[in-house]
Amino acid sequence: MSDPAIRVLSVTSECAPLVKTGGLADVAGALPAALAGQGVEMRTLLPGYRAVLEALDGATPVARIPTLFGGPGRLLAGRAAGLDLLVVEAPHLFDRAGGPYLDTDGHDWPDNPERFAALARVAADIAACRLGDWRPDLVHCHDWQAGLVPYYLRRDKTGVPSVLTIHNIAFQGLAPMARASGLGIVGADLDKEGVEYWGQVSMLKAGLVFADRLTTVSPTYAEELMTPDFGMGLDGVLRARRADLGGILNGIDLDAWSPGTDPEIRPYKTPRGKPANRAALRAELCLPEAPGPLCVVVSRLTEQKGLDLLLEALPRLLARGGQLAVLGSGAAALEGAFRAVDDPNVAVRIGYDEALSHRMIAGGDAILVPSRFEPCGLTQLYGLRYGTLPLVALTGGLADTVIPATPATMARRVATGIQFNPVTAEALGNALSRLCDLFAAPDLWSRMQRNAMAHPVGWGPSAAAYAALYADLTGET
Ligand code: ADP
Ligand code: GLC
Repeated sequence: MSDPAIRVLSVTSECAPLVKTGGLADVAGALPAALAGQGVEMRTLLPGYRAVLEALDGATPVARIPTLFGGPGRLLAGRAAGLDLLVVEAPHLFDRAGGPYLDTDGHDWPDNPERFAALARVAADIAACRLGDWRPDLVHCHDWQAGLVPYYLRRDKTGVPSVLTIHNIAFQGLAPMARASGLGIVGADLDKEGVEYWGQVSMLKAGLVFADRLTTVSPTYAEELMTPDFGMGLDGVLRARRADLGGILNGIDLDAWSPGTDPEIRPYKTPRGKPANRAALRAELCLPEAPGPLCVVVSRLTEQKGLDLLLEALPRLLARGGQLAVLGSGAAALEGAFRAVDDPNVAVRIGYDEALSHRMIAGGDAILVPSRFEPCGLTQLYGLRYGTLPLVALTGGLADTVIPATPATMARRVATGIQFNPVTAEALGNALSRLCDLFAAPDLWSRMQRNAMAHPVGWGPSAAAYAALYADLTGET
């Protein structure tokens, strides 16, 4: 008889395709299917945002929750987009116009700590069988929004182990100390050894201190996180937990991201299919023909992503006959700076557009990811899959997924892109020049495109690594 599946509750604030602001959604949305083949039965707990409730198919109430941070709620079970979901229906917390974290003016919801403490409270109550009779063997928590789950599990003595995955340490879930008791955090747990962070409550730190194991989304970021340059004040906490911290690379959903079957593009299986997509993209974005590479960016426009450096280095690309197409949204200053670029060889689309992102990645010659830090990064993986060569900063997951073109890697026929370091406009400019040199050598370029398209970017090995971690923690090995 085969072993029974390990039951895992995945707790997340976003999940593709239902609600997404970044890569966390892609990962949370892909993990259940990736792990199904590994003997893991994963259910996903999400806040009942409007979009999630609307998408739920045949929702059944599992339990009533008389009071949940200022109002009543219910736990619902249902399916949507192939996912097995549990949903926290609590209109006073989640039934709002705007995004998962921001109101329609782009400001954080003032009660974000309580909103995500509610998500965590429900997760811990599910684990304790207080809400229905499904009991997970383990809870997998994502980022600060699920940071209080390990704390509540420990304080409630549930005996259910937890894993916390850090997708981005820049977001820490800080709340004024005065709100700690309302969040259910009391006594010595508020000390420096507990959830306190420079006089505030850090919901991420609660997870870092109390989870049984910590993971992040690439091996290099796992190392970087333990340094002052990248740990954003939590490097000491992470060094103290070095033995429990590991990096597991993200994969991509090959059903959604494969050039041979992508409904948004002119499908192709070899790099020979790319020029037709490039021509279509140029036509769509009103870009002329050009002798150099068409470089694309699909990104949140924030300090993290280093796109201010790209604005500085851009003349180097344009001088070589290259072009740039940007799809992104985020910080008003960066949106404005990109909008202000006035050059026929630059196209800028401000906004979020899933379909256009596919056409850009299929039609570009290269994809640029000049991030100052990047826990994993997904768009360079899409680039590899589509033969759109990644030019990336040497950091985090970008360092782990792109094989830089050097004489040795070219000779061994494994090079897939270009890396630059340090992350400065000058180094980026040099990398763009190098990109143009390679583009001008069609044999080298198409060899790299084939290498890139053959590079494995699916979930296989990483799903196995998560399954092994779960088995270890639940004593199933
Ligand atoms: P992060 O999570 O830091 O934003 P990732 O590279 O891990 O970075 O994931 C970003 C995800 O969001 C990718 O799936 C990317 O295609 C998508 N994305 C980012 N900006 C946009 C946009 N403006 N339009 C469409 N998709 C976008
Ligand atoms: C974060 C990171 C990104 C990572 C994503 C999914 O948003 O910024 O690098 O790929 O989470 O793990």
